[in-house]
Amino acid sequence: MKIKSLLLIGALFAVGCSAPKEDQIDKRVNDLLGKMTLEEKIGQMNQVSGGYQFIDQIAAGNIGSILNIVDPVEVNAVQKAAVEQSRLGIPLLVSRDVIHGFRTIFPIPLGMAATFNPEIVEKGARIAAIEATASGVRWTFSPMLDIARDSRWGRVAEGSGEDPYLDVQMGVAMVKGYQGDNYADPTSLAACVKHFVGYGAAEGGRDYNTAMISERALRNTYFPAFKACVEAGALTLMTSFNDVDGLPSTGNDWLLTDILRGEWGFDGMVVTDWNSSGELVSHGYAEDLKDATALSVNAGVDMDMMSFGFVQHIKALVEEGRISEKTIDNAVRNILRLKFRLGLFENPYVDETLAAKVAYAPEHLEAAKQCATESVILLQNNNNTLPLKSAKTILVTGPMADAPYDQLGTWAFDGEEQHTVTPLDALKNDYKVIYEPGLGYSRDNNTSGIAAAKAAARRADAVVVFVGEEAILSGEAHCLSQLNLQGAQSKLIAAMKATGKPVVVVVIAGRMLTIEKDMAQCDAMLYSLHPGTMGGAAIADLITGRAVPSGKSPMTFLRDAGQAPFYYNHPMTGRPNNGTETLLNDIPIKAGQTSLGCTSYYLDSGYGPHLPFGYGLSYTTFEYSDITLDKQQYAADDTIVVEYTLANTGSYDATEVVQLYVRDLVGSVVRPVKELKGFERVALKAGETKRCRFELPVSELAYWNRDMKYVVEPGKFQLWVAGDSASGEAHSFEVK
Ligand code: BGC
Repeated sequence: MKIKSLLLIGALFAVGCSAPKEDQIDKRVNDLLGKMTLEEKIGQMNQVSGGYQFIDQIAAGNIGSILNIVDPVEVNAVQKAAVEQSRLGIPLLVSRDVIHGFRTIFPIPLGMAATFNPEIVEKGARIAAIEATASGVRWTFSPMLDIARDSRWGRVAEGSGEDPYLDVQMGVAMVKGYQGDNYADPTSLAACVKHFVGYGAAEGGRDYNTAMISERALRNTYFPAFKACVEAGALTLMTSFNDVDGLPSTGNDWLLTDILRGEWGFDGMVVTDWNSSGELVSHGYAEDLKDATALSVNAGVDMDMMSFGFVQHIKALVEEGRISEKTIDNAVRNILRLKFRLGLFENPYVDETLAAKVAYAPEHLEAAKQCATESVILLQNNNNTLPLKSAKTILVTGPMADAPYDQLGTWAFDGEEQHTVTPLDALKNDYKVIYEPGLGYSRDNNTSGIAAAKAAARRADAVVVFVGEEAILSGEAHCLSQLNLQGAQSKLIAAMKATGKPVVVVVIAGRMLTIEKDMAQCDAMLYSLHPGTMGGAAIADLITGRAVPSGKSPMTFLRDAGQAPFYYNHPMTGRPNNGTETLLNDIPIKAGQTSLGCTSYYLDSGYGPHLPFGYGLSYTTFEYSDITLDKQQYAADDTIVVEYTLANTGSYDATEVVQLYVRDLVGSVVRPVKELKGFERVALKAGETKRCRFELPVSELAYWNRDMKYVVEPGKFQLWVAGDSASGEAHSFEVK
């Protein structure tokens, strides 16, 4: 209700500056460009981090954008220098990493993806935009669209996981939410799709590392979300730090010009990542900063974030003929177009009283709670331990039970821990709570507190153990080579198990950890990807049964980090494992070299992962039946109509995320064993049965084939409708 009224205020506010028409914008851009000196053009291409300290530079027209100031008074002061003191009065673009909320922090993006609910994700982005723009920020560096198939990489936290289809849905939802319907509305926050491209494929899951991705894999797996977001109107794009096949993105003209501008028709703005232009030198791809600047600008970069190469060297490079003036003009057009689109010329300042009014509005907290609730994944629930209905007294233990800062997760710069509701806070409303943390923080190896927790367990009807990762353990540059619970957390869980009380483990982390052994030490396990401000309230609802889990895993859970990268939609091998793996302890002494069968698996951890992509249980049970296709054979322009019956056969009203997978059996290149092609959240009352349908246009079976053409190759396909990527039965059809 109140969101609507805020939007209305936003709309009214924008009346005097409603979206300028695109053709008028082009004219205004060209008129302004015609008045600019080369120095002023270069100034527009320069982005720096900070505020007041740059006032003189801003007034001199040397800065086009700033990042990392969020105080509206400071924003207005620097804006004033741009608008009232610089020769042409071109407003500044104020930016910030608003990644999963501004003040009201939503679950980390990987958690948002676990909701499989683009609607709540869009709403979350809209709320982030309302709160951030109230501080004067009009540009966020989000969504991160990097496909991530290796949880060792700390930045898996920031994206939607391993699947391109889910990535598209979540990315587009965020772009729409941030930007709203009208770029010139003061609550419109320009999105920045990042990091273009292949950053999540860093070798070994080590940040900033090289990525080796073929053009076909780029097009089939890594490009789709970027292309979809460009089509959805994303206003800006950020280049990535890494190289793909030896070409660092920031200097890759094929990516930034041929693909992005040429094939996709992007008319937004391209910014580097932080000093990624300068890092062309560290890569050994440019001789020095000047050379790096020439390579970046000529590749198609418009704005430099923090290398300072553009302000230092473009002028000389133009004079020497290494960069053409036309190239500079195009870059500046892209920047000015964005500023006009955002209505900054008409409306450069922010109402300094607004930020405090909109932050943590009740409906923002409510939406954050809904998102957190839907993001939690139930991994195990032996003997229906959860919900904890009959327990009166519970022991709450573990380092994440009351970690208001850490549950916000990575990139929560503007979230304030004093607003966080922790699980401990929330559970006190429902149970008589005994609190014994056992460990001080997630990496704590000091086991001296475990005895007290154990003793306290005797007085409780059930134990809830909150383990996981502090915020600092995931996100940028926070990679791990092992994915087990840190410190003595596994010991704490085992000690609780030894008490004989029912043990519920809640993992609160920034990635998919290897928790198979810990699952064996508890009765039930909930998995929450750093759930944000309202995480504790959401988790308490799930523990008590006021809410029923519906989250599904956006990444495969591994048995052991050594299996990484492992993703459900991998290409079929010539020797797939057919379930006849012989593990280390079963190998006879002096076994013959080929006696184990020569299939694709690990002798120690076997073939399969711990839990598949799309996995997540409920307090109720769902049964799928009567899955039918409207035809056996389809033409290229047909739509496949898949119907299925879903029954809620348990005793809780609940929501199931129904997933549609397809396999192309024979291709001109090897095809993935399964691909997600649709999903839907279906809510059913206990005992209710519903006939539902998916409509899948045959055109969505297209892929970049051997001839690097985007086509649907005729032939046989299989299709599954199921609750995760490893369940269900295959149904066959053919495309003629
Ligand atoms: C990150 C980006 C971020 C930028 C600005 C970089 O280190 O890679 O994702 O947007 O900093 O803070």
